[in-house]
Amino acid sequence: MKILITGGNGQLGRELANQYKEKKGIDLILTYSSDLDITSTKDVFSFVNLNKPDVIINCAALTVVDKCETEIEMAYKINTIGPKNLATAANEIGAEIVQVSTDYVFGGNLNKSLTEFDEVNPQTIYGKTKLQGEILVKNLNSKHYIVRTAWLYGDGKNFVKTMIDLSKTNKTLKVVNDQRGTPTSTVDLARVIIKLVEDKNYGLYHCTCKGESTWYEFTKEIFRLKGIATEVLPCSTDELQRPAKRPEYSVLRNYMLELTTGDITRTWQEAIKEYLL
Ligand SMILES: NC(=O)c1ccc[n+]([C@@H]2O[C@H](COP(=O)([O-])OP(=O)(O)OC[C@H]3O[C@@H](n4cnc5c(N)ncnc54)[C@H](OP(=O)(O)O)[C@@H]3O)[C@@H](O)[C@H]2O)c1
Repeated sequence: MKILITGGNGQLGRELANQYKEKKGIDLILTYSSDLDITSTKDVFSFVNLNKPDVIINCAALTVVDKCETEIEMAYKINTIGPKNLATAANEIGAEIVQVSTDYVFGGNLNKSLTEFDEVNPQTIYGKTKLQGEILVKNLNSKHYIVRTAWLYGDGKNFVKTMIDLSKTNKTLKVVNDQRGTPTSTVDLARVIIKLVEDKNYGLYHCTCKGESTWYEFTKEIFRLKGIATEVLPCSTDELQRPAKRPEYSVLRNYMLELTTGDITRTWQEAIKEYLL
């Protein structure tokens, strides 16, 4: 089976490549923004037609949530037009498409874990552009897997590394304690994506690790596991004044996984322990 991964240098792209390299019978094509710009319709169509993958896994995105608020056109190009190009090109050759999406498609003000059947209501440009990406992929290629995740960390730039770096120069750190979500390892997300593709289980899925946390609680656990002495103090979202509004509560429930292939994700505590130790 020939698999094309876009955004090969990102956190998820790297982890998927690692896991696929362990599997037999996989012909992997990894692309980077420098050799395949997913926003270019012409380039995407000629690349896909030349290489004829069976599955395209789109790991490319503009993930800097605050940047999306000012670089709106760029955000729509990468998070909406890119997936549209890939879904259409895949459809033309009969290939499947995996689109990765986000908890930010939800409004974040319902105090319950969100399933694939809950109503979306994005509050940020990032959330809006990712939602439109989902919709186009769904409409343009019936062989789609749309997988929403959250609070992702792996090999690359992420919250965990930022906090560890900050601990080196700070005796105390204030961390937000009024946003709830679920830290998710790229290891768990990649395992689920690979299984969905193996099972040909098309559709919309939520995929985060199990459980929930605030950024403050997550940081406390990171520092405990690493033996970092920096004191962590809880603060409110309002104290930080970020350009993009963050959802207060965006815990996803992996309901469709539970109902179909089974939920093989770990608790967020198990996953972060393996990542750090
Ligand atoms: N990170 C999170 O917390 C989080 C949370 C929820 C959902 N997600 C979703 O999960 C997926 C994977 O996220 P991630 O954290 O692995 O992302 P990431 O580490 O930020 O990687 C994104 C990749 O996309 C590439 N890219 C950007 N613009 C491109 C373009 N025009 N053409 C081709 N490639 C381009 C980037 O390449 P360059 O490095 O060359 O720019 C980068 O390698 C994304 O769909 C994201 O929206 C992430």
